[in-house]
Amino acid sequence: MTTEAKPAYSPGLAGVIAGETQICSVDPNAGLTYRGYDIHEMAEQASFEEVAYLLLNGELPSVEQLAKFTRQIASERELPAAVVKMLRLLPRGTHPMDMLRTGVSMLGTFDKELNDNSHEANIRKAIRLIARVSTLATDGWLISQGEEPLEEKLDLTQAGNFFYKLRGEIPQTWQIRMLDTIFILYADHEFNASTFAARVTASTLADMYAAVTSACATLKGPLHGGANEESMRMLDDIKTPDRAEGWLKEQLAKKAKIMGFGHRVYKKGDSRVPIMREIGRDLGERTGKEQWIPICEKLEETMEREKQLCANVDLYAAPVFTMLGFPPQLNTPLFATSRVAGWCAHVVEQHDHNRLIRPRSLYTGPEMRPYRGA
Ligand code: COA
Repeated sequence: MTTEAKPAYSPGLAGVIAGETQICSVDPNAGLTYRGYDIHEMAEQASFEEVAYLLLNGELPSVEQLAKFTRQIASERELPAAVVKMLRLLPRGTHPMDMLRTGVSMLGTFDKELNDNSHEANIRKAIRLIARVSTLATDGWLISQGEEPLEEKLDLTQAGNFFYKLRGEIPQTWQIRMLDTIFILYADHEFNASTFAARVTASTLADMYAAVTSACATLKGPLHGGANEESMRMLDDIKTPDRAEGWLKEQLAKKAKIMGFGHRVYKKGDSRVPIMREIGRDLGERTGKEQWIPICEKLEETMEREKQLCANVDLYAAPVFTMLGFPPQLNTPLFATSRVAGWCAHVVEQHDHNRLIRPRSLYTGPEMRPYRGA
């Protein structure tokens, strides 16, 4: 019989403060800041590299620091030959998120600083991880499609190079700008599930690659990052705006979870949605694919009326990625290509101020009972 007082319990850790952070703050009333800067101000002007630097180092870079950081990332993109060989050995049809998770895990074994958790070594490893998660996403996809990956283009930024690797041509400036904005929106979100998984792993003093492997595994699920791939399947199924309301009501009657809606923290709207919706409208006009955003808007309107639930960023990210020319299987790896900056920043912070993360559980099993009638 336990004599311990019952600790407070919140299913799914909802509302629980599980740690301190100086990196990112999510305001339930639709606000999001990185190191005190509003993402709405940064999203349309900053580069992904500038935001990654900010997340990792706490302050914005000077012009020289940004140029150096951007070069460092570009120069670290190439994967070790053995990792490329491993990607080729995976069964045809392996999902790019599984390739990514396996690739990150394997990359750790090639990093000479793997087990050095000092601040300086962690920042160096973060640069390598930010560079190579992108390559695992692009090259993993190409290999899974039976195509040969291209060489990295050193003079392109992460956003530009991502396009280049998949399309074989240098993207236009507006495309790079859009992908930078998307990467900035996705770069961090305080204690979301994948970041929390990374911090739990790091809190055992396991290395950064172990933590990012945990994060990749956690991001895959459709209640988290996997929602942006599922949202595209949903939009494909709906096809036209006039079918959206009927489709949604049918799904709700079946008690189905609707991908791209709801959020654990935001209850009055996701701070990233207005920017992503605007990018979607712009892309709709540029590409002539003008059905996707009206479908999303009709879903938003109906969901608000029927369930008082708001859209999250993944609803609009799905058609945006499609209109940018990416296959739906790359939607979640695209998210990871950006979120890896946040994951690494959180691992640095966790290691710098570590305390093991080890909560309690509420036991609901059988009462104490004798073993085999003893
Ligand atoms: N579709 C239908 N109903 C939903 C829903 C959705 N997407 N999201 C939440 N709900 C319902 C829940 O079923 C619950 O209803 P109930 O009280 O009748 O049981 C109610 O809204 C409250 O939701 P709750 O389960 O407390 O939310 P949560 O904080 O545990 O879960 C998510 C948050 C994100 C996991 C959840 O909203 C979800 O599954 N969304 C779809 C996946 C997604 O888009 N993920 C990306 C998040 S950025």
